[in-house]
Amino acid sequence: MLEAIMNRRSVRAYTNAPVPDEMVQDILESGRWAPSGSNIQPWLFCVVKDGTRLKNIAAFSPGMMSVPPLAIIICTDKELAFERAGAFGRDELSVMDASMAAENMMIAATALGLGICVLKSFNADGIARILKTPEHIRPEFILTVGFPEKNPPAPKKKALADIVFKSETITRVPISPNPFALAATEGMPKSLPRQPEKPRTTAQTPKPIKETVTTMGISK
Ligand SMILES: Cc1cc2nc3c(=O)[nH]c(=O)nc-3n(C[C@H](O)[C@H](O)[C@H](O)COP(=O)(O)O)c2cc1C
Repeated sequence: MLEAIMNRRSVRAYTNAPVPDEMVQDILESGRWAPSGSNIQPWLFCVVKDGTRLKNIAAFSPGMMSVPPLAIIICTDKELAFERAGAFGRDELSVMDASMAAENMMIAATALGLGICVLKSFNADGIARILKTPEHIRPEFILTVGFPEKNPPAPKKKALADIVFKSETITRVPISPNPFALAATEGMPKSLPRQPEKPRTTAQTPKPIKETVTTMGISK
């Protein structure tokens, strides 16, 4: 599993070979099993194989570097997300859910020997028109899928030591110095004094989700 996670690259050039249906099925299945806030599962996966439609999608997607043999558009049902979790569900949870599904699909595709890339740089209204989706179904991500023409080298990833913090003190200074952190913390103390936690007033105590949803006048 770790191997597929680490081998996944954003592949932007594909051969013309079609993606076998069983592989597409496995990718979709892996998206279906992604975690989902309040288990709303507001996602819809639209598979596009038709060459003309793919070209039209590419025309509305500046972030798409070449026309792939297949695209999966991850959409979310904003009406369902709002019904179940209000504006937070519609504006935040649904996008997070789509991201979770996208990552599952990318790992699955990599494990199957396919190349895949997630895109956000596209005109969502244009894509919705091409897919003929109703108003409340919004395209969140496009996944381009195919057999890689070439496997790109791994881009530079930050070292763990530069992004993991000592949780017992929660300082803003990383364990080992890195250029970004040094620039951001220049002139700052090496560790920030921990603020004593103020007791929460009743008004600040988070309400259980069910209560919040009821307050918004939503029955579910
Ligand atoms: C939210 C998000 C949006 C992205 N949008 C695009 C895009 O529009 N076009 C593109 O070519 N790559 C896109 N990428 C891929 C990133 O450029 C890529 O993940 C990054 O350069 C790291 O490379 P790696 O995926 O090979 O590790 C996106 C990635 C994420 C997570």
